[in-house]
Amino acid sequence: MKDSANRRKTTVRDLQRLATAGEKIVALTAYDASMAKLADGAGGVHLLLVGDSLGMTMLGYKTTIPVTLEDSLRYTAAVVRGTRYAMVIGDMPFLTYQVSVEETLHNAARYLQEAGADGVKLEGGRAVAPTIARLVRAGIPVLAHVGVLPQAVLAEGGYRVHGRTEDEAAALEADARAVQDAGAFAVVLECLTTPAAERITRALRIPTIGIGAGPGCSGQIQVMHDILGLFEDFVPKHTKRYAELATLSREAIQAYCDDVRSGVFPGTAQSFK
Ligand code: KIV
Repeated sequence: MKDSANRRKTTVRDLQRLATAGEKIVALTAYDASMAKLADGAGGVHLLLVGDSLGMTMLGYKTTIPVTLEDSLRYTAAVVRGTRYAMVIGDMPFLTYQVSVEETLHNAARYLQEAGADGVKLEGGRAVAPTIARLVRAGIPVLAHVGVLPQAVLAEGGYRVHGRTEDEAAALEADARAVQDAGAFAVVLECLTTPAAERITRALRIPTIGIGAGPGCSGQIQVMHDILGLFEDFVPKHTKRYAELATLSREAIQAYCDDVRSGVFPGTAQSFK
């Protein structure tokens, strides 16, 4: 898993081993086969999440709420096709795991059976712990998600950092313990204060994967489009831009337009005799 010559598919046990050894877990979102191939080949990403953030990055919605199960399955299958080594986790969309246990099981199973994913993610703490337990009993690996829950943005009235008070930090810890006890293999901590995330990481046996939760988590996850500078609508505070691909893309497209208009493209190299 570590060096490229002996690299093999990352498993839930590997994530646990990394966390126990104090080695950081590296996770990233991906939405299509070509970006998955890049991420899987570069740097040894352990986990690719086909986040419902695809609603914003790929489908142009303002939130994750309009994303459907079919949208998510289609993008998950594409990422699976582009991935050899990283675990691929499908992110169950809004209201696909709340209606009934039977429906949840069938929906989650489709990620494994149809899309070829290695597990699913769902949002929530104590409220979804019984659902997580049921999925895990059925053999479906579950990545949990507490803190900011983007699917609850309308009910919450927006996004805010969680864990600023002792009561809130204690409630978050109770949520994280509940999903751990239900059998989740790891938990995403989204937009928590650094002390709250550190407290939860110390309290849990399973790895914590932070996004906007400071450096004390067992690993980090970021949205691919944010770190590559592809998503320009807003830049979350927790993101670091490692490239400016939107700017580069605009320049490349402009150069192509100019070349077509001036007749420079196609040249003899791109033409057939
Ligand atoms: O949908 C998503 O991309 C996510 C990550 C931000 C964790 O849930």
